[in-house]
Amino acid sequence: MRKIIIAGNWKMNKGVADSVKLASEIAAAAKPVEGVEVVVAPTYLATAKVADVLKGSAVKLAVQDVHWEDQGAYTGKVSVDMVKELGVEYVIIGHSEQRQYFGETDEKVNKKAAKILAAGMKPIICIGETLDQRNGGQLEAVLSAQVKGAFAGISAEDASKCVIAYEPVWAIGTGVVATDEQAEETQAFVRGVVRGLYGDAVAEGMTIQYGGSMKPGNAAGLLAQKDIDGGLIGGAALKTDSFIAIVDAAVKMVQKA
Ligand code: 13P
Repeated sequence: MRKIIIAGNWKMNKGVADSVKLASEIAAAAKPVEGVEVVVAPTYLATAKVADVLKGSAVKLAVQDVHWEDQGAYTGKVSVDMVKELGVEYVIIGHSEQRQYFGETDEKVNKKAAKILAAGMKPIICIGETLDQRNGGQLEAVLSAQVKGAFAGISAEDASKCVIAYEPVWAIGTGVVATDEQAEETQAFVRGVVRGLYGDAVAEGMTIQYGGSMKPGNAAGLLAQKDIDGGLIGGAALKTDSFIAIVDAAVKMVQKA
């Protein structure tokens, strides 16, 4: 069975003290469960302190971006070695907010993915279409280009360590969630693109998360879908209760299977 990953993307919310508090609560509440991984992605500023809080717990550490260069004159940027040193396992790249506001492109996502993999960490590669693209019949072309762009030149062995997060842009922070069927149909398509690139084994083994207004009330339905292997959660990840309720929905599903 594929690994289910429930990841909280805290975005530009929670300062250091609040991040430490939230991480401590989540670490205390999330028990280790075979087949379910729980991940949090605080602000860079809190990475070191959150790493300390998570030590010995079942919760893994992520950051929300990284630069692809090793070091040098890149004001404002953080390298893979810097985050690796702190015990980070996952790096979110290609988020639609990065694409929309900060010039993230498939080419940059690809360079970041290669660097993250070379450092022994795992990229969570975000893809997703806007409402105009979906309504304009471009859904498959957009997602296919994002996946192919992100994985260009990446070996099958490295690809098998990657996670994809399908996040329809129109569902992020809007309260409008994709229906279970819409999300499943799209994620099955995404898995098909991965199959085309790397074959059955890599495609079947890859964790593909859903993101976009995932909440305790809709998580069970989404997670029950064959091609939805977890969630990348924004708003509902900022409170221990709602985040843990989503983790619990994943645990229940895995234990029922
Ligand atoms: P929301 O859960 O707030 O819609 O955010 C989703 C997201 O963008 C996670 O990366």
